[in-house]
Amino acid sequence: MEKIVILTGAGISAESGLGTFRDEGGLWAQHRIEDVATPEGFARNPALVHSFYNARRVQAAKAQPNAAHQALARLQRDWPDEVIVVTQNVDGLHEAGGSQDVIHMHGTLAGALCSSCGHRWKSAEQMTPADPCSRCGRPTVRPDVVWFGEMPYFMDEIYDHLSGARIFAAIGTSGQVYPAAAFVHEAIAAGAQTFELNLEPSTGVLHFDNILTGPATQTVPKWVDDLLKRR
Ligand code: APR
Repeated sequence: MEKIVILTGAGISAESGLGTFRDEGGLWAQHRIEDVATPEGFARNPALVHSFYNARRVQAAKAQPNAAHQALARLQRDWPDEVIVVTQNVDGLHEAGGSQDVIHMHGTLAGALCSSCGHRWKSAEQMTPADPCSRCGRPTVRPDVVWFGEMPYFMDEIYDHLSGARIFAAIGTSGQVYPAAAFVHEAIAAGAQTFELNLEPSTGVLHFDNILTGPATQTVPKWVDDLLKRR
């Protein structure tokens, strides 16, 4: 039994043309986190927050999965045990690349959530503060993404997977946002072999057994080939 748990971040979608957050010129250099990615920012100016996510939704809809997304789908298909993909990304590129049952711990751009009644549905490409909830009718609709200060989704399920991991990989994530940044410690406690695949070593690099440095479209297919050879 060699269960694999993979955590991905914005770096895996960078070569599909989607900007990362903390790289030079990234999203957090262009927008203030407290304005567009907190519940308080949304309460102050919902139109601004919707326009930020509307733009990202349009951009994500045009993006194509790259060789790294596709390689992870291949690993899920060909590995004899479970391969769990947990992503911090709100794009749908893992699914477009063929992955199954992706766990979106920070939500998705494709989702709308009513903050009054908790109803969820598929969002329109453009959302506005006046949109009514499709169940209760109140104009309290937000993107179904997890903001700073909010609890990421599916945490029990993720910790459960980590406790059974034999191999753990963090791909394209700076390791600066918790709780995801601490998953490697859960995996180590479970006795997993750990890999970091990133453009450059992240702040958490010392925690990993193996460091594969370079663009995800090169490192991920090679890592998958090597794993499949050893099975
Ligand atoms: N291939 C591999 N890694 C890459 C590539 C690439 N082509 N391009 C960039 N990277 C790496 C960067 O070096 C960086 O370490 O991807 C990482 C991206 O880091 P962040 O921008 O911090 O993104 P992420 O780790 O996903 O952010 C976590 O922060 O703001 C929140 O909710 C948001 O989910 C996001 C979370």
